Order: sequence, then structure tokens, then C-alpha cells
Amino acid sequence: ATQRVHSIATLGADGIGPEVVDAGVQVLRKLANLDGTFKLEFKDYDWSSETYKKTGKYIPDGGLEELKKHDAILFGAVGAPDVPDHISLWGLRLAICQPFQQYANVRPTKIFRGTESPLRKAEHGDLDWVIVRENSEGEYAGQGGRSHRGLPWEVATEVAIFTRHAVERLIRFAFELAQKRERRSLTVVTKSNAQRNGMVMWDEIAAEVAKDFPDVKWDKMLVDAMTCRMVLDPRSLDVIVATNLHADILSDLAAALAGSIGIAPTSNLDPTRQNPSMFEPIHGSAFDITGKGVANPVATFWTAAEMLIWLGEEEAAKKMMDCVEAVTERGIRTRDLGGSAGTKEVTNAVCAELEKAY
Ligand code: NAI
Ligand code: MG
Repeated sequence: ATQRVHSIATLGADGIGPEVVDAGVQVLRKLANLDGTFKLEFKDYDWSSETYKKTGKYIPDGGLEELKKHDAILFGAVGAPDVPDHISLWGLRLAICQPFQQYANVRPTKIFRGTESPLRKAEHGDLDWVIVRENSEGEYAGQGGRSHRGLPWEVATEVAIFTRHAVERLIRFAFELAQKRERRSLTVVTKSNAQRNGMVMWDEIAAEVAKDFPDVKWDKMLVDAMTCRMVLDPRSLDVIVATNLHADILSDLAAALAGSIGIAPTSNLDPTRQNPSMFEPIHGSAFDITGKGVANPVATFWTAAEMLIWLGEEEAAKKMMDCVEAVTERGIRTRDLGGSAGTKEVTNAVCAELEKAY
């Protein structure tokens, strides 16, 4: 039989990024070796805030063309204490997401077996969401400017851009995703009472697209009320679609409600598949725990599983997630999940579990 080969670019970048990406690669290599029906080839790029401080650039000339040769990108986190966050974010992460038109940012959340939600009554199975975030424009389009810098009459604008093209393709993507899930339910989040232009257009487009998905149950929420519903009635939600800014905030809340930011993955997808998609844990570079060997690698494992699904390796991805959950269930957990294990221990435990599974 011919082996499927997937070429992966790895970009650990800053802080705990390289630590968790290394853990992810270790588990992926183990999985591919045991499975044998597909092969993974990795190429590491050491672009980081260090590169920026030395050369003035996060991505060297020709870097994007280089990345484009791969089937997918596994990303860690970018951000350093001595580089302003807007420089690092725009310099590396958005510099890949935007030109590669990774317009759908998909963020699943659930409560792992053997872990606890801070919500008193929520257990494994009670919170199982996918947040779909607009990832190409909106509040993060970079439109705006500053005049009269530093003077008392300084003015700054931050203009949100909503195009029918981008909103339609994203909402359609969210409906398609909802259609594939068991509960077939979609919640469209806006703030169309106060923001009466772009957000009202979102609502209108949602209603139009919904006509093509009669089998998906959908409703609308204002973003502020949505935070209450996520806390008070998590079972009522399934797929959630929202703007770049709103979904950014809601997905951090979602990760915290599920137990820890250390387990949550995110996929930056180009659904047209013209460019490689990029997969990353949602957490940042976590300076406070960098180099201590305690970073939770589970978010990166789930991220790696989502990447495998995108590459067509669903069966292997499912096996991997089962093994990760078996490990959390057995109590081998990092500190953020109330355990005492380090990154290495959790990673080795997942590898051992994979050996048993195959
Ligand atoms: P952060 O996610 O790095 O850390 C928040 C808290 O969660 C910290 O207490 C940290 O120790 C903990 N934490 C995060 N990941 C963890 C893991 N895997 N295991 C255990 N604990 C974990 O967010 P923060 O502190 O706001 O940002 C730090 C830097 O990361 C900033 O420069 C920020 O811009 C950047 N950042 C980058 C992101 C990206 O590359 N996509 C996303 C979020 C932040
Ligand atoms: Mg965020």
C-alpha cells in the first residue's frame, strides 16, 4: 500500500511555544510510527522574537513562500516581555493568517475525562462547544490610525471592517460544521443592538445562509448575554460563530470554563485549501512558566489531533485523543489541571498509552 505523506512546518516561536511544540512532535512521531498508514515529515523554523530583535523581522524574506510548500503549520506562541504585543502578533501570527486567508479560526472546547470545570455542576459531556471565529478582518483588520501623537488632542481610530464576502463564507463554514455534529445547532453571536451597521449585516447574512441548512437549528445572541449563557447554561450550546474580537474573548472564557487554558486548541483554516492551514494551542508564550518544564502539552496534543483530521487522518487523530484523555483520567496532569506532573511526564505517558492502543 502507498503511504500518505504529510509535510508539517513547525514554528514553536516564543516562551513555552517550543516546549509544547516539541512535545506535540514527539507524540505525532510516535503515532505515525505505530500507525504506519501515513508518514509525517517535519521541518522546523526558528522564527521568534529573538529573530526579530536581531534582524528587525519575524519572517525572513521568502519565508511565506517557504511555508507554503508544507501541508500544514504547527505553531506554538509568539510574544516576549521586551517586544510590544502588537508588534509580535502582527509580525508573525497575523503575518501568516492574513496572507494565507486562514479565515476560519476554529476553537473546540470540552471537559476532559478526569478533569474539573470551575462550573460547579458541569461534568464531562456537559460542555462541548466549537467556537468559529472570523479570522481575516473585522475588528482586527488593522484599519485606522493615530494623529497628533502625544498631544492632548491626539486621536486614534480602530475601524472594524465587515465585508459581505468574508461574513458569508464564514457563516456558511459554521453552518457546515454544525451540520456535521450530532446536535446540529448553531448560535450566531453579534452586538447588533448597539453596532447597527456591520453587526446588523451579520444577522441578515446569517438568516440568508440559514435557508440552505434547514437541518441545522440556529439562534442569535448578543455577545454580552452570551457570556451569561455560557456560564449558566453550557448544555444549550454547540457551534458558536462570532466576529474576530467577540470570538477571541468568548474562547478564552470557554477555555477557562472547560478547566484550563492549557488544554484548548485552535485551527486557522483556509477552507479553500489553497494555502496551508495553521494549528496552535490558544494559550500564549506564558513567560511565568517558561523553561520550568511544567507547561501543559495537552492543548498542543489536541491541536495536533485537529491538524491530523484536517489532513484526512481522522482515525489516528481519534486514537490520539483517546490516549490523551486516558492520561488525564489516570491523574497524570500538569499543575494548571490540579496535578503535579511536568510536560515530559505527560508527554511520555501519552506515548506509552499509544503503544498500548496499537
Ligand atoms: P498566556 O496564555 O501566555 O498565559 C496566561 C496564564 O496561563 C499564565 O499564568 C500561564 O502560565 C498560563 N498558561 C498558559 N499556557 C499554559 C500551559 N500550556 N500550561 C500551563 N499553564 C499555562 O497569556 P498572557 O500571559 O496574557 O500572554 C503572554 C504572551 O503570550 C504575551 O506576549 C501575549 O501577547 C502572547 N500571546 C500569544 C498568543 C499566540 O501566539 N497566539 C496567544 C495569547 C497570548
Ligand atoms: Mg486570545
